[in-house]
Amino acid sequence: MSKLLDHKVAIITGAGSGIGEEMAKLFSAEGATIVVVDVVAERVEKTVSAIRAKHGTVYGMVLDMTQKDDIRKLVEDSVKIFDHIDILCNNAGIMDGFYSLEETEEEWWDKVMNINLKAPYLTTKMALPHMMHNGGGIILNTASIAGLHGGRAGLAYTVSKHGLIGFTKHVAAYYGEKGIRCNAMALGAVNTQIGYGSSKPSQVGLKIMEKTALSMGRPAEPHEIARTALFLVSKESSYVNGAVLVTDNGWTVY
Ligand SMILES: NC(=O)c1ccc[n+]([C@@H]2O[C@H](COP(=O)([O-])OP(=O)(O)OC[C@H]3O[C@@H](n4cnc5c(N)ncnc54)[C@H](O)[C@@H]3O)[C@@H](O)[C@H]2O)c1
Repeated sequence: MSKLLDHKVAIITGAGSGIGEEMAKLFSAEGATIVVVDVVAERVEKTVSAIRAKHGTVYGMVLDMTQKDDIRKLVEDSVKIFDHIDILCNNAGIMDGFYSLEETEEEWWDKVMNINLKAPYLTTKMALPHMMHNGGGIILNTASIAGLHGGRAGLAYTVSKHGLIGFTKHVAAYYGEKGIRCNAMALGAVNTQIGYGSSKPSQVGLKIMEKTALSMGRPAEPHEIARTALFLVSKESSYVNGAVLVTDNGWTVY
């Protein structure tokens, strides 16, 4: 029986934990070959083992997505080993401690931007020529409702995810005619180990976020988000390009 992602090669960054891990497992179950990327070696090993245990085809890479040479290696090795890249999920990300403008130090700003925004830019820039050469491809960016609203995270995270959503729409507009679809998920709270991004989160930031938090009802489980992702990377969403799919249990309707 054919599966949704048969013969597809999918790179997933931050696939050693949480949402990326569940995406990797689900996409593999749907027939894709997975390139699992994470900066923490044990996490890569855990996801790779889980996929192998179900007889999936998988390749693990321990890389730091803030390093340009690591990103180059990711794209070059993926093409060398699997011949093509069909799906790129820019998913690795970190939180920002809910820091306000006054509390956000420059190093912290750079760190959050480098992982949440610059890495998707560089990875997509390097993968795109291979996708176009192959007749097309699908890019999925893990954004957040903090990329649509002002009070759901600190400054750096909010700006990085607004940027990622702009990036998504721009790539969709410029490359849609060349067979590239680029979409984003704007997620509410998801039950992962991402936490607040700091052992000393901003009390001001948390208070502002908590003003609306009750209306979310409950956080998502990562496997629920993986199903949104599967829709966006499969032919089930063939007419969806440049979209931001809000997946937040209605948190932002209030
Ligand atoms: N959990 C939530 O509530 C939530 C909400 C909205 C959006 N998101 C987004 O979802 C994405 C995944 O987050 P998650 O909740 O699954 O968190 P997570 O911490 O469980 O997983 C993120 C993974 O990314 C990896 N990573 C971090 N920096 C990296 C780097 N420089 N290079 C390579 N890998 C790196 C981590 O090691 C980790 O395994 C992030 O982009 C996050 O912003 C999460």
